[in-house]
Amino acid sequence: MTEIANVSGTAFIIAEFRAAENEQLQPLYLDDIVQLFLNEQTHQAAGEVLQVFPPAKDAIAIRTKYFDDTLSAQIALGCQQVVILGAGLDTRAVRKEALGVTYFEIDHSATLKLKAEVLQQHHLTANVKYIPGDYVRDDIISLLQQHNFNPDLLTYLLWEGNSVYLTKAEIITTFGKIRDYIKNFKFSFDYMSDRVIARTTGCQELNDYIDKFIEMGAPWLTGFADITEVAESLNLQIVEHFSTAELYQKYCGDRALESNLFDFYFLGTLEKVA
Ligand SMILES: C[S@@+](CC[C@H](N)C(=O)[O-])C[C@H]1O[C@@H](n2cnc3c(N)ncnc32)[C@H](O)[C@@H]1O
Repeated sequence: MTEIANVSGTAFIIAEFRAAENEQLQPLYLDDIVQLFLNEQTHQAAGEVLQVFPPAKDAIAIRTKYFDDTLSAQIALGCQQVVILGAGLDTRAVRKEALGVTYFEIDHSATLKLKAEVLQQHHLTANVKYIPGDYVRDDIISLLQQHNFNPDLLTYLLWEGNSVYLTKAEIITTFGKIRDYIKNFKFSFDYMSDRVIARTTGCQELNDYIDKFIEMGAPWLTGFADITEVAESLNLQIVEHFSTAELYQKYCGDRALESNLFDFYFLGTLEKVA
């Protein structure tokens, strides 16, 4: 299996945290596919991260619910293509399969190969095109074009758990290419405050969490102070924008908020200005 190191390896840690929500009495979502990718090695690696920063699990549960709900809403509104950048072990192509909707998952080949094999072993099908590659180095538009993506169809893009690993220039360039290529889309993503990256949140356990990713070979590079400015510079419109603290309150008001991470971690959806 893929080594649990570098940015590709982070997908296995996230998958472990995502699977843990299934055990809650009142889970925010159910993902009964993700556990198929997990084993003792992934469990141990995720356990080590949780020891340093226990709230990580809740942060992943909240973002998963936000992306799940937004995806369902976009499908209900008639979206025909779903692009998942840096898909890792995302299982939505199976869990959220819908008539007339094609998924396009971009990630490095080893992760996508593992995913395809495991799903096949369990006789799980999905209308998904796996796109092995690096959407920064290989050019995201060429990757999509090579897999019969249609830029004229209504599209929803998910960019989850990726932005911290990219430079600001790579993020802006990726957004810009998508804006210029796809006619009509909505695009959900998550990002950290620039204070997390600068280590000025005053939260030592959050700094320790970042160190854990450095240790794994997946350093966090980028956060944003003001996403409005970024959206305006790209001529994109903010459809919605939440701190995970706000979503935490909305989704699980009865669970205690264990960290100020949630004030520094954001989720949002952008769209092309008509
Ligand atoms: C933290 S994981 C998140 C996976 C998934 N989106 C989720 O939330 O469960 C980051 C994933 O993004 C992928 N990734 C990051 N940068 C990438 C790039 N430039 N091209 C392709 N995949 C990338 C990594 O390989 C990894 O699978």
